[in-house]
Amino acid sequence: MNKTNVKPAEGKLGVLVVGLGAVTSTFMTGVLMARKGLAKPVGSMTQYDKIRVGKGADKKYLKYDEIVPIAKLDDIVFGAWDVYPANAYESAINAEVLKEKDINPVKDELEKIVPMKAAFDHNYAKRLDGDNVKTVKDRWDMTEQIREDIRRFKKETGVDRVVVLWAASTEVYVPVDEKVHGTLAALEAAMKADDKEHIAPSMCYAYAALSECCPFIMGAPNTTVDIPAMWELSEKTGMPIAGKDFKTGQTLVKSGFAPIIGTRCLGLSGWFSTNILGNRDGLVLDEPANFRTKEVSKLSTLESILVPEEQPDLYTDYYHKVRINYYPPRNDNKEGWDNIDIFGWMGYPMQIKINFLCRDSILAAPLCLDLVLLSDLAARAGRHGIQRFLSFFLKSPMHDYTKGEVPVNHLFQQYVMLKNAIREMGGYEADEEID
Ligand SMILES: NC(=O)c1ccc[n+]([C@@H]2O[C@H](COP(=O)([O-])OP(=O)(O)OC[C@H]3O[C@@H](n4cnc5c(N)ncnc54)[C@H](O)[C@@H]3O)[C@@H](O)[C@H]2O)c1
Repeated sequence: MNKTNVKPAEGKLGVLVVGLGAVTSTFMTGVLMARKGLAKPVGSMTQYDKIRVGKGADKKYLKYDEIVPIAKLDDIVFGAWDVYPANAYESAINAEVLKEKDINPVKDELEKIVPMKAAFDHNYAKRLDGDNVKTVKDRWDMTEQIREDIRRFKKETGVDRVVVLWAASTEVYVPVDEKVHGTLAALEAAMKADDKEHIAPSMCYAYAALSECCPFIMGAPNTTVDIPAMWELSEKTGMPIAGKDFKTGQTLVKSGFAPIIGTRCLGLSGWFSTNILGNRDGLVLDEPANFRTKEVSKLSTLESILVPEEQPDLYTDYYHKVRINYYPPRNDNKEGWDNIDIFGWMGYPMQIKINFLCRDSILAAPLCLDLVLLSDLAARAGRHGIQRFLSFFLKSPMHDYTKGEVPVNHLFQQYVMLKNAIREMGGYEADEEID
């Protein structure tokens, strides 16, 4: 390995997940199975991807852990919170994502992952009615109790570092309100005043994680850490944050396909995306207020790739619509349809149809692994605040809008940002330009 200033990945890495549902039980089962050599972590960049470092005659293609110190799968210790008391084994069985034969070899380990009581507010996810929930006085107390959970987890397991990953249900949409979310002092005051409208439970998890010096990742589209107050906290505690919303199926396709249209200078008049899914995520998103959060996140993808101001002839006024339909028979096996109305030479219309029969949690699990390992890496590299190099994994990448930053949604530009960050942390030149 080249000379790097990143602290080594010594000791155990605690991974505390908020939400022990389909995604996280699939993630945990896969990691435990891979550890035993019984499954392959397919789809994980940290386990497979190779990056070029150096140029010309010095050029080499190396895996991430040959460039920077990355925690090993063997060193991961899982913990969780959930509204329902099912342990990780029961949750994996209930989710019906994986076959029992792919879960049973690690049954004993999964059964030991029993969720701690959730910091939960029914008004934020009306379709959930579990009772494994903390009794709290106010939002501040909620935060304090989560901090206590993290400290206890560290003590009981002896882990050296902890990363907190939100992969719980999507909460109802909380628009950013500068008065409450604009500064850390205002956020803390609102928590103490028990402002339930502006302080989502997810904000309590994020506040607790950052205060306990744990990186925090937002895998759902919630605005949780996408607010200046949390950026201030992450600077104060020197912790990385990443979000939001795992980029798994339809949006991955969109952020990879839109560049074809843009690069080829074809026009776009409309993009309609719809899908059916029947898991608990779909059930929660069936509630309009929860869907709104997802919709805002999904809609943001195209606008920064096919930019009307840059190419008014090609991208002015295209119609972009996103729909999600709860349809129980499909469970986790989501089916997505994209209809893309494009136009070519002299404005003549054409259509592209994409039909993606995917598996939601199978696509999300490797993202959980990569986001966790790379956030832990970022913390050891002394990086704090918004980690834009992780945009590659996220549907609605965080960016400092107060400084006029724009999100990067273009998949291949995001990949350059990822590669450059790994190179830089590995002591190599971050030598690729984003075009
Ligand atoms: N699978 C994908 O492709 C994908 C892509 C992007 C985002 N996501 C997001 O990931 C999240 C998880 O998806 P899933 O399919 O595993 O859903 P799921 O419904 O199977 O699991 C979510 C779990 O979170 C728990 N929960 C809800 N609120 C909680 C709280 N306040 N504290 C602790 N636990 C809480 C629920 O009880 C549930 O068990 C969702 O928000 C989803 O939108 C998934």
